[in-house]
Amino acid sequence: MNRRSSRTRCKRDPGPRTTSAGAPGCRLGAAFGRFVGMTAWAALGAAFLPAAAHAGGDAARGERVFQYCYSCHSVDPNETAILQGPSLVGIVGRRIAGQEGFEYSPAMRAFAAEHGTWSEALLDRYVAAPLAVVPRTSMAFRGVEDADERRDLIAYLKSVGAR
Ligand code: HEC
Repeated sequence: MNRRSSRTRCKRDPGPRTTSAGAPGCRLGAAFGRFVGMTAWAALGAAFLPAAAHAGGDAARGERVFQYCYSCHSVDPNETAILQGPSLVGIVGRRIAGQEGFEYSPAMRAFAAEHGTWSEALLDRYVAAPLAVVPRTSMAFRGVEDADERRDLIAYLKSVGAR
């Protein structure tokens, strides 16, 4: 029974060795196959990880990109200074124009009525060209042209929002 089942599971013909000592060739083959399989997965993982991190943006690099914003915005929930712009704590997924007590422009409030919350895609568009996406926004900022920088920035904003 043993011999039969191992032979059916073993794709490569183990040859005459099976007849005397079970299916060593087959077992070896299977173990080797598992090993190759694992290495292949590990290699694949290694190849894909940096790509995945890139696709999702790099929060550490994004912290540097936030230098563009930090004179007007804080990502610290305990910030007490009154800044020109609203807090960006948890901005990804947050209601647009949602900070209590902040005087948003009518343009931003109209934009909020239309779009609801800040998705990553919407944030990406706004940060790329604030005045093109929300005409007459009071945010006096030209925008971040570089798509990679924006991706990293958004990864950073997400990471501080999760704290
Ligand atoms: C010169 C000051 C200034 C700079 C620099 C600035 N912002 Fe703003 N930001 C503002 C102001 C003011 C508003 C409110 C806009 C409105 O009401 O139209 C705002 C609004 C926003 C909003 C909407 C917030 C909400 O509650 O809906 C986001 C998102 C935002 N800014 C992101 C950024 C990012 C990211 C950067 C850096 C790349 C940046 N801003 C740079 C002043 C600034």
